[in-house]
Amino acid sequence: MSTDEATFADIKAAIAAENGPDFEQKATQAWAEIIAELQLVTNTIAQEGPSYIPTVSFADIQAGSLSAAQIAEVKRKGSVVIKDVIDDKQARLWKEELEEFVKKNPQAEGFPEDDKQFFHLYWTRSQLEARAHPNMLAATTWLNTLYQPTGTSNASTLAGVDLKTPLSYADRFRIRRPGFEWNAHPPHIDGGTIERWQDIKMRSCFSDILAGSWKKHDPYVLEPRLEARTSLYQRPNQSSVFRTFQGWLALSATAPGHGTLKVFPDVLLSNAYIILRPFFRPLVAPDSKEIWDVKNWVFDLTTPEIAGVFKRQTQVGFNLHPTEELHPHLSLNKTMTSVPAVNPGDTVFWHCDVVHSVEREHNGNEDSAVMYIPSVPLTPANKRYIARQADAFRAGIPPPDFPVATTGVNFVGLGSEDDLALGKANEAARVAMGLQLVAASA
Ligand SMILES: [Fe+2]
Repeated sequence: MSTDEATFADIKAAIAAENGPDFEQKATQAWAEIIAELQLVTNTIAQEGPSYIPTVSFADIQAGSLSAAQIAEVKRKGSVVIKDVIDDKQARLWKEELEEFVKKNPQAEGFPEDDKQFFHLYWTRSQLEARAHPNMLAATTWLNTLYQPTGTSNASTLAGVDLKTPLSYADRFRIRRPGFEWNAHPPHIDGGTIERWQDIKMRSCFSDILAGSWKKHDPYVLEPRLEARTSLYQRPNQSSVFRTFQGWLALSATAPGHGTLKVFPDVLLSNAYIILRPFFRPLVAPDSKEIWDVKNWVFDLTTPEIAGVFKRQTQVGFNLHPTEELHPHLSLNKTMTSVPAVNPGDTVFWHCDVVHSVEREHNGNEDSAVMYIPSVPLTPANKRYIARQADAFRAGIPPPDFPVATTGVNFVGLGSEDDLALGKANEAARVAMGLQLVAASA
């Protein structure tokens, strides 16, 4: 047995012990209910396709006119398209500027190496402007406030936490060309892999599920997220901050089939299923009909696997990839749903627990271009990261979460603090970038 396997078995034993002598009975009951629910929901998702994913307008968010039912739908499904956050022309202009930057800086690293389309660039002027745009900050603030503290506590009383203060997490962009096949992003979950079971704080995000009360699970409870450690193994390219939602801003028109994002649009159910899955072992083949009969699954603490968690081949850390074989009841082949068509300036956001992938094929005529811009609220841990990120920005090197393969010092036309044109009139942008103190003392 390898060290990892021993650790995995220990983690399962610790969780079982934590949840009392009736853990087996509670987990088994929950497992049966979750499978029954998945049978219904996965069929509905497959039938409805992209229209199952909610779309809201930025204007309605600003006006506060979304209904309680709309908000509840966004929360349950965990993914949302927000239309018209940025003016179309501005978004297209940013794309042109990114293309210009890449042309002037052929040394910029990207994937694939011989025809770069996904760029390890963080500090171009257009990225800075997009992150600093008041509408992006307003949209991410709204998403942050979908999270709430439990019980009587209140977000404003949690020390160092302000859901209404958004932070700017620097990530990359892609300009994906039609016809190019993209294998790099099969269904996966960001922000925490084995940590979801191993880290005591992170697994407390899922305590209701592990206690058998999966229906009570609320993926939007704030407290356990604040100190959850999503990166115990310093895996590169893994966000170490608490992102309420991962997201992107469209810089081109992109429709289903054009190399867009796919999601499993039910974060409550996918969490419940994925978190309990390692405690059960199938007795029949995963592609057989009998797999849906709960009698064909047995509770098992002895196997050393955590289903879906894979050791990375070439780098440290683990991936979390649900698969058809290991997670048959998610029916990923039919439920991974492409997000609806977007125009430049629209945004797409998905909860940090959502299973997502990128379409392998791009059959459209236009580049599918997006800037990755997640929703990140002010919390003590996030603030610490943003301070380090601000240092990286000033030095022109990649942010701390990303491999320091390329330094930016030789790039022509990188953005600087002076280029935060919107930031000059907008202190929120400087705070978001962790530059507020610099501004105050300048
Ligand atoms: Fe991802």
